[in-house]
Amino acid sequence: MQMLVEGLAMGAFATFFNNINDPTGKKLLQLVMTDEAFHHKFGKIWADRTIPHLNAEEHAIIEDWAAHCFQTLLFNLVSPSQQRDLYEEFGLDPDKVIAEMAEMVTDETRRENMKEQTNIFRVLVKTLLNAGIITDRTRAFYAIYVDMDELKAEGDRMVGDDIAEEGIKYLQEINFKDRHAAPVTIAAE
Ligand SMILES: [Fe+2]
Repeated sequence: MQMLVEGLAMGAFATFFNNINDPTGKKLLQLVMTDEAFHHKFGKIWADRTIPHLNAEEHAIIEDWAAHCFQTLLFNLVSPSQQRDLYEEFGLDPDKVIAEMAEMVTDETRRENMKEQTNIFRVLVKTLLNAGIITDRTRAFYAIYVDMDELKAEGDRMVGDDIAEEGIKYLQEINFKDRHAAPVTIAAE
C-alpha cells in the first residue's frame, strides 16, 4: 500500500508542480514532495528487503493484489460514474455522459496518457516493476498500457526526485543557516 499510494502521490504532485504558475503554490508543492519522497523511499526499502525473500506463493499474492489495485484505480479514479452529481448540477444526463465518455476514453487514450512522465499510473507501474513485484505472470497485463522495456531502461530514478532534492537543499539552507558545516545527506539513499 505504501508503494502504491506514495507513488501515486508523487506522480500527482509532480503533475501539479509542472503545471502551476502560482509561485507560492509551486513552493508548497515542492515542500510536500520533499516529504512524500521519504514515504515513497520507505516503500522501496521495504520492497528491497522483503520481495527477494518471499516464496512463490507469497509473491503471487502481492503481485496479484498490486495488479488488482492498479486496475481498480485505473478505471475508477476520476471516473465519470463517480461524478453523476456534478453532471446533474450542470443539467447533463449522467447516463448519457457516462456512455459517451466510455466511447471516447479507450485503452488507446490510457496508453497515450501513460506516455507522460508524470502520469500517476506510469509512476505506479514503474514503482512495482523496480520493486520486483511485477514478474512475467502479470507483465503482459501492464504492457497493454505502458512500454515495459522503456520503463525498465529508465532505471531507478523516480519522477519528482529532482524536485524533492531541491526542496531538501532549500530546507537545509533554512535549518542549518547558523551552522558552519551543513550535513548533506539525501533522503534514505
Ligand atoms: Fe505520503
